Amino acid sequence: MKEVTAKRVISFSPPDISELEIEEVAEALRSGWITTGPRTKLLERRLAAYIETGKSDIDCTTEEAIANYGQKVVCLNSATSSEEMNLRILGVREGDEVIVPAYTYTSTASAAIHCGATVKFVDIQKDGDPVTHMPEMDYEALEAAITPKTKAIVPVDLGGIVCDYDRIFDIVERKKDLFTPLESDGSPLGELSSRIQKAIGRVAVVADCAHSLGASRIFRGEKKYCGAIADFTSFSFHAVKNFTTAEGGASTWRPLAGIDDAEIYKMYQLHSLHGQNKDALAKTKVGSWEYDIIGPWYKCNMTDIMAAIGLRQLDRYLGLLERRVEIMKQYDAVCEELGIRHMVHHTANMDSSNHLYLIRVPGIGEAERNLIIEKMAERGVATNVHYKPLPMMTAYGKDCSAYPNSYDYYHNLITLPFHTLLSDEDVDYVCETLKEVVVGVRGY
Ligand SMILES: Cc1ncc(COP(=O)(O)O)c(C=O)c1O
Repeated sequence: MKEVTAKRVISFSPPDISELEIEEVAEALRSGWITTGPRTKLLERRLAAYIETGKSDIDCTTEEAIANYGQKVVCLNSATSSEEMNLRILGVREGDEVIVPAYTYTSTASAAIHCGATVKFVDIQKDGDPVTHMPEMDYEALEAAITPKTKAIVPVDLGGIVCDYDRIFDIVERKKDLFTPLESDGSPLGELSSRIQKAIGRVAVVADCAHSLGASRIFRGEKKYCGAIADFTSFSFHAVKNFTTAEGGASTWRPLAGIDDAEIYKMYQLHSLHGQNKDALAKTKVGSWEYDIIGPWYKCNMTDIMAAIGLRQLDRYLGLLERRVEIMKQYDAVCEELGIRHMVHHTANMDSSNHLYLIRVPGIGEAERNLIIEKMAERGVATNVHYKPLPMMTAYGKDCSAYPNSYDYYHNLITLPFHTLLSDEDVDYVCETLKEVVVGVRGY
């Protein structure tokens, strides 16, 4: 084993912001337009193009791009808002049930609760997916949890690894007969939601892709990027994510038979801007002050300052993903040497967005796991735990006994620092520190 060299300070997940992002933010500030405006609209189109093609450099200023990609993605202020807007536009409300994995972050569940729905947790598979080791839902338990009240399932692509959507869609198709779509109550939202539920005709798949922008999977025999797989999708651009706008998120959906994307896009706009039928940009047109409030809705739009960061992040994104793969290879090698189970981010049918590097140290309990985290921190290496299962949290009842696989997955889990500001020397240091600390704590 190599001697651990001089102490380094390794942050867990600092944002990778270059002079390009800084300059674009300055340009936005100088432009006189700082709230939702041209930069947000351009980012929406570029994200739509990226999700559809995997290409981040398509010129989205042309008329053709505006027609193709103009109303397919809505940028918002967070993934939490995105997820809530997805459920609200689907028409999820009191009396409905939404199925959520027990192993996730609170937003996956709280967005459904905000809509008045009841959350039903499903445990994960023991030790996660057999190939990727990602803590994916137990699909038999998922199928059994669907009732006539179920309106949505929220799969989570944890760490950037894409869930088995073929299997999830097979399940909701099989359970189609239990599903009754919402009937319109005559309101603008109720009317659209009813048409959306009728067009889908089964429990909707509303993916939490907070971690998985740019990840792809073979779905129904074809390579598809996250955002083009589930019925509705939310992404996070929070500061710790691969792709950031400081805070931020985006919603997208798959085309629905008989419903124009423009109509759905417009409903997201209304929902994220007070239910006001003209945004600030539209109101700047001469003599165009008058507006209506369609519903007493929300305020969660993205600003052009945030979008400015996103535009330049998107220019750099494919390179950032590649760098993450290089770091991952070194982490994989040290884990294999130590007999530590790690997530597998790339398989024959799936490419992750390489967001989180989760490891599980065999033969240790929670106390030893916490000791490893402490000793790594003493040596300057910040680690984390993704996640403490939601049922263990106060807000969700503090009782994980019905979700033994989630508890088991969590009890020996550590998330390593994994980001593009790590130099090769930093990565060596993390690996050597991990070896030294794990061998010290575990005794081998
Ligand atoms: C799985 C998951 N979903 C949703 C979110 C919420 O993201 P945001 O902070 O953009 O609302 C997070 C945040 O870390 C997350 O990890």
